[in-house]
Amino acid sequence: MNAGVTQAATIGVIGDVHLFWDEADIAFFNRGGYDLLLFVGDLAGYTQVRGLRLARSLRKLDVPAMCIPGNHDGLHAFQLGAEIAPRAHRFRDAFCRGQARRCHSLDRALGHVDMVAYSRRRVVPGGVPLNIVVGRPHSIGGRRLACIRYLRGAFGVRSMEDSAVLLKSLVDQCDDAPILFLAHNGPSGLGDRASSIWGCDFRRKEEDWGDRDLEEAIRHARDSGRRVLATVAGHMHRRTKSGKLRPGQVQKDGTLYVNAAEVPRHRKVNGTKRRHHVRLTVTNDGASAQDCWV
Ligand SMILES: [Fe+2]
Repeated sequence: MNAGVTQAATIGVIGDVHLFWDEADIAFFNRGGYDLLLFVGDLAGYTQVRGLRLARSLRKLDVPAMCIPGNHDGLHAFQLGAEIAPRAHRFRDAFCRGQARRCHSLDRALGHVDMVAYSRRRVVPGGVPLNIVVGRPHSIGGRRLACIRYLRGAFGVRSMEDSAVLLKSLVDQCDDAPILFLAHNGPSGLGDRASSIWGCDFRRKEEDWGDRDLEEAIRHARDSGRRVLATVAGHMHRRTKSGKLRPGQVQKDGTLYVNAAEVPRHRKVNGTKRRHHVRLTVTNDGASAQDCWV
């Protein structure tokens, strides 16, 4: 490495895909220019069959890639409904049966694309040493943990408190390199309006819909003297139910927060199909993000 030359990692952050992915996306990322791709989850729509087909197509990527499962990944439609609809909550536990098997199928379908959850990866994209701390999988946001039966069996997580403890232990495993958090839903603490970066837009009462365990882990990292360059997530679609737009990024306390969930990520612009992702540039000192429609 030349002294005085700042190394920079170029990371592609792909928001909630929800089946909007095709050969042109593969070709674009395989043309070069990216050191790492981070999928924030929700590859699938409402059926696992199509989600698995999409996951298999990601194997054609030549770029190193990671994917955290969202609340649409590894859940069948009834399970997803039970997690979301208040009246169906009593079926949550029963429909959660078999989720470990469904997640295993997703992992196999993804091939070399690294399916990650509650983990820490040490990487050096573009020559920049980074700790990637991966948050709670299948998050639906808010105060309640989704897929609790699965989280208990797979990770020993029984509560939001357990989840925060586990995430903090991952932070403690990091070395001196800066940290980048990858999660499905973003952290709490960034606004309680419907159009906040992770605010609740589907209830009458506006509130913070971010993940409290993730906020605690980020604070713990900072309090223990670590540099948290960025946190990337999605889940709360940028266009809210009332048609307002959330910010796609926010800076707070020296950390860049990116919500990459432009849904649908394929759109026609002047008759031409465009594809969304966020281009995240990371150096040892900081991170910047740019929305790209290609
Ligand atoms: Fe989601």
